Amino acid sequence: MTQYFSKITGWGMYVPENVLTNHDLEKMMDTNDEWIVSRTGIRERRIISEGESTVSMSVEASKRALDKAGINAKDLDLIILASSTPDYLVPPASSMIQDELGAECGAMTLVAGCSGFVYGLNTASQFIRSGAYEHILVIGAETISAGIDWEDRGTAILFGDGAGAVVVSRTLQPGGLLSMSMGSDGAGWDALIVPALGTKNYPNHENIDRKEHKLKMKGRPVFKFATRVMSDATVDVVTQAGLTMDDIDVLIPHQANQRIIDLALRRLNFPAEKTIVNLDRYGNTSAASVPLAMIEALEDGRIKDNDKVVMIAFGAGLTYAAAVWQFQPMEVSPEDEAILVTNWPVDSAFQRKLQEMRTAAWKMKVQARTKASEASMAIMLPLYSFRKGLKKRGKKEDNQDEPKTQEDKQGQ
Ligand code: COA
Repeated sequence: MTQYFSKITGWGMYVPENVLTNHDLEKMMDTNDEWIVSRTGIRERRIISEGESTVSMSVEASKRALDKAGINAKDLDLIILASSTPDYLVPPASSMIQDELGAECGAMTLVAGCSGFVYGLNTASQFIRSGAYEHILVIGAETISAGIDWEDRGTAILFGDGAGAVVVSRTLQPGGLLSMSMGSDGAGWDALIVPALGTKNYPNHENIDRKEHKLKMKGRPVFKFATRVMSDATVDVVTQAGLTMDDIDVLIPHQANQRIIDLALRRLNFPAEKTIVNLDRYGNTSAASVPLAMIEALEDGRIKDNDKVVMIAFGAGLTYAAAVWQFQPMEVSPEDEAILVTNWPVDSAFQRKLQEMRTAAWKMKVQARTKASEASMAIMLPLYSFRKGLKKRGKKEDNQDEPKTQEDKQGQ
């Protein structure tokens, strides 16, 4: 039976022109650039203007991806849109995109929070590798700004809008998806939630007055979940691929927070220079975050032919998804493909065993580092909260000591 591989043959991105900086936010709410940069790494984000939407951004990104792949929308066999902020709850935005592109294929919207694009890429690869489909368009697109409460400094500073799209095609060139992992921890379902946009709590005057149609987030539990799955899921996919982090050329993490990324890099002992970060310019664009980072890295040559790349994302649900992807060279003649296929794979049993042992030893090292880092967080966090409590109490007592009225002052 012919062995097919998935290959990213085209990519395109679209971000709104409108830039909202931390200094702009300072004028809208009680926050400041220094706090945002030190706690998140974000400096600015893009926000849609009138006429732009999840569908319009997806269509632009997709046209660029189709152009790059050198195919027509009619060549597509499936469209997968990953988004939690579609133009409408019904109909699926994926069908509106299919119509605007002029594609004649199935289309579906995948809702898995910020992990959506990696879920979509993993799903598309299965249809490609089975031989069922030849070209699939996978899009990650979000208009989070529409769901932001611009008086909530806990969420407003974090998010931005944008769209990234890739064409995943069938090939005989070995590579593409080498391993994947997808997970869900639904116990944390209310950590990131828009309470009044579904059928359980349909929008009405009362819940809109309470701003329940806007995004609510419990930052601390999400942070904890994120740091755990970033290293655990990466170890999982790298191990499955029979590799170690030394074999990984590029890491594309979900662009949520620089501190989450730094912690994961420390646990994985992976260099920052090989990690793609653009959250300073776009903030957290949810399902668009991994494709935007990937596309910029492909465009500026940080991802090169045959590079092995880890993608790891986490988000509402709570969900996570990871993959190891090998980027095959773009230019390959049919003869080259035939040669590559006959040579694949040539590992001797001895080499395979050696690699298995290397992978197992590396996995144990990362797990030990993660345990130590979690233990130090478990000790430091209560200390930090205790110190914060003391500071607050100190401030309160100072205030109580201060004379409040003219009579108080005179009485002293
Ligand atoms: N500007 C200024 N001060 C702010 C602020 C802002 N935008 N937001 C919160 N603060 C204040 C708080 O009120 C608090 O003040 P206090 O000490 O007087 O009570 C202080 O800063 C610390 O707040 P805290 O919520 O403990 O901050 P944090 O260190 O946990 O950072 C997040 C907050 C949101 C940046 C962090 O929790 C985070 O990144 N979580 C993950 C979120 C995420 O990635 N979500 C998307 C997942 S896909």
